[in-house]
Amino acid sequence: MSKVAIVTAASKGMGFACAQRLVANDYQIAMLSRSSEIHDLASDLGGIAVQGSTGNLEDLERLVDATFETYGQVDVVVNNTGHPPKGELLELTDEHWKEGFDLALMNVIRVSKLVADRMRHGGSIVNISTFGAKEPSLNFPISSVARTALSAYTKLFATKYASEGIRMNNVLPGYIDSYKADEETIKQIPMLRQGAPDEVAELVIFLASDKSEYITGQDFLIDGGLVKSI
Ligand SMILES: NC(=O)c1ccc[n+]([C@@H]2O[C@H](COP(=O)([O-])OP(=O)(O)OC[C@H]3O[C@@H](n4cnc5c(N)ncnc54)[C@H](OP(=O)(O)O)[C@@H]3O)[C@@H](O)[C@H]2O)c1
Repeated sequence: MSKVAIVTAASKGMGFACAQRLVANDYQIAMLSRSSEIHDLASDLGGIAVQGSTGNLEDLERLVDATFETYGQVDVVVNNTGHPPKGELLELTDEHWKEGFDLALMNVIRVSKLVADRMRHGGSIVNISTFGAKEPSLNFPISSVARTALSAYTKLFATKYASEGIRMNNVLPGYIDSYKADEETIKQIPMLRQGAPDEVAELVIFLASDKSEYITGQDFLIDGGLVKSI
């Protein structure tokens, strides 16, 4: 029987590329995003969809419940999400920080609680994070801080569930062309180009699959050489 994958924030960009590649690799798919087009996109891929937000617990519950009702199991979760609010470091409000943490940290914590004890035959959770989790960027303050915390959460989850065959890893993209970077930014990327969503999806598929079965609790940069720290 095919394995079953959930992909959140899946209507375009990296999320959609992951959903397409999972289906091409014989996974059955359940997708979430806020816009209604997610229903047609999922149906084109032979999967199911739930319309809702990664920042909302009830929407995540509906997604996980619908997946178990339809397929009876979940083997893979790709926790992609929207873009946390941006702005000058000290001008970001409490509401911005709360919204960003709901979107880019609590999404993973909530989904983990919903699926972990039901992944009876093991599983792989892959979170789309950011290069800012390794090298915090003033261009993306909330994303950097929330996703540094996500790396810590990932270590804890990986440690607790490794013996049950449930893994969690983070993919840390640099500038991917679903986000328009300016010329100055592109000049700072050693490969002098943005990445493509499909290149990120390729790494996600590897981490989702049994080919990576001895890997858990790790952060993987995919950034064209952008981050220089060792
Ligand atoms: N692109 C980059 O260079 C880059 C680099 C590092 C990290 N990231 C991170 O990677 C993630 C995806 O980036 P991307 O460039 O692929 O994005 P994108 O092309 O703008 O697509 C975002 C996707 O997320 C969905 N979405 C947005 N907010 C959502 C929410 N609250 N709940 C559910 N779905 C939501 C959108 O669909 P709806 O509008 O229908 O909801 C859409 O499908 C973001 O979290 C971003 O911070 C991106």
